[in-house]
Amino acid sequence: MPDLELGSFKLPRLNLASPQFQANPYRAYDIYRAREPVHWGISQNPDLPGCWYLFRYSDVLAGLKDPRLGRERPGPSLANQSPDPFAVPNNDWLIYRDPPYHTGLRDWLKNALTQQLVEAFRPRLEDYALNLIGSFPPAGPVDFISQFAEKLPAVTLAGLLGFEPDKASFFARCAIYMLAPSWQINRSPFEQELAYSRAYATLSHLLRDLVAERKSVPRPDLMTRLIFTQQQFRAFDEAELVSNALLFLITGYHVAVNLLGNGWLALLEHPAQVEQWRAGILRPGPAVEELLRYESPLQMVDRWVLQDLEIGGKNFRRGDRVYLILGAANRDPARFQQPGNLELDREKNIHLAFGAGLHTCLGANFVRLQAAVAFNLLLERLGNLETVGPPPSWQTNPNFRALNHLLFNYTLKEA
Ligand code: HEM
Repeated sequence: MPDLELGSFKLPRLNLASPQFQANPYRAYDIYRAREPVHWGISQNPDLPGCWYLFRYSDVLAGLKDPRLGRERPGPSLANQSPDPFAVPNNDWLIYRDPPYHTGLRDWLKNALTQQLVEAFRPRLEDYALNLIGSFPPAGPVDFISQFAEKLPAVTLAGLLGFEPDKASFFARCAIYMLAPSWQINRSPFEQELAYSRAYATLSHLLRDLVAERKSVPRPDLMTRLIFTQQQFRAFDEAELVSNALLFLITGYHVAVNLLGNGWLALLEHPAQVEQWRAGILRPGPAVEELLRYESPLQMVDRWVLQDLEIGGKNFRRGDRVYLILGAANRDPARFQQPGNLELDREKNIHLAFGAGLHTCLGANFVRLQAAVAFNLLLERLGNLETVGPPPSWQTNPNFRALNHLLFNYTLKEA
């Protein structure tokens, strides 16, 4: 994609892998949203001739709710439909399925991850966050990503499911390996395949052990609820149980890291609003919603066209691939006033960071709570905050908004 200052020239096809896009995705979103909001661009999958990109809030929301856009690629069978060429079987992952299979599976998983379970986890969230902050040296600089943002979701997600904290860092490394094929271009395909399938096998093994343990010794955790609620819905088998428990860990981990990392950067860059937060003028709940809108941890979701349809005057054919750009929708000036500004007390902030419709995020309330608890405690315990060093750099995987590092200075206050 050449320079984006194109005046009246025809827009080039969007290429998410181009350095121009990666240098500033929001600028690209603004230009395409204004000039060609329904756009046939270059696909990340080289086997496809191209794919659709939707940038406007209204189109993205409608797309998320449209049953003609699905997760299962239309065709004779579900075999080999994974978006990743090295992927292990994931045909029973909730996130890749459409109704009717999706419906019963989602009811079961949703019923297991209740608000009560999430709320009951609050004291442990606070303990984990305080322990991490307590392990910081008395003053910075510290890398927020490796020392906090990557550690907290590992220990909390593993804990929510029912693992002991000592498994958490091992789990985080596996989670990173599982996602690696989509961004680690410095590995050979064979190395990627090995890394991915080893991490998958190891996590599945840990989860099967946990299932066996919880069947004999139930505890107030998500795994126990998954085991003991499944019969109410349909006889899901153990493979589906393990597979979807793994989905919780994997889908939830990276985005939760991004919410903490991106949110902390946004706070460091807006000290006046941080002071309002500390003074109790801002409510943490709405503030977290604004952090989710402003730097959405997951930038896009994908769908297959199941039936021919028209969007914005363009014809979508059955079998086409569609990307719904949440990050662009969440900065659409037709929906949000001054969308490029962080306003932690923004009202009517109905952002799409957790998606919408059938596949709306099941972990949303858990990560909302985690972020509110974490930022509250960080702001309580750390003073004299400032970023240090060169501007933080972003990872090149366009699907996520993820920082490589975030060095910052602080002084640790007395507990
Ligand atoms: C800031 C953190 C998170 C963000 C931004 C996020 C975002 C999303 C989005 C946008 C979707 C919809 C995907 C689609 O429409 O194709 C989704 C689905 C999902 N999320 Fe999250 N998520 C987060 C954390 C979590 C956590 C912590 C968990 C688990 C505890 C989780 C579990 C799920 C599951 C199971 C689905 C699939 C739902 C379905 O297909 O019906 N997420 N998430």
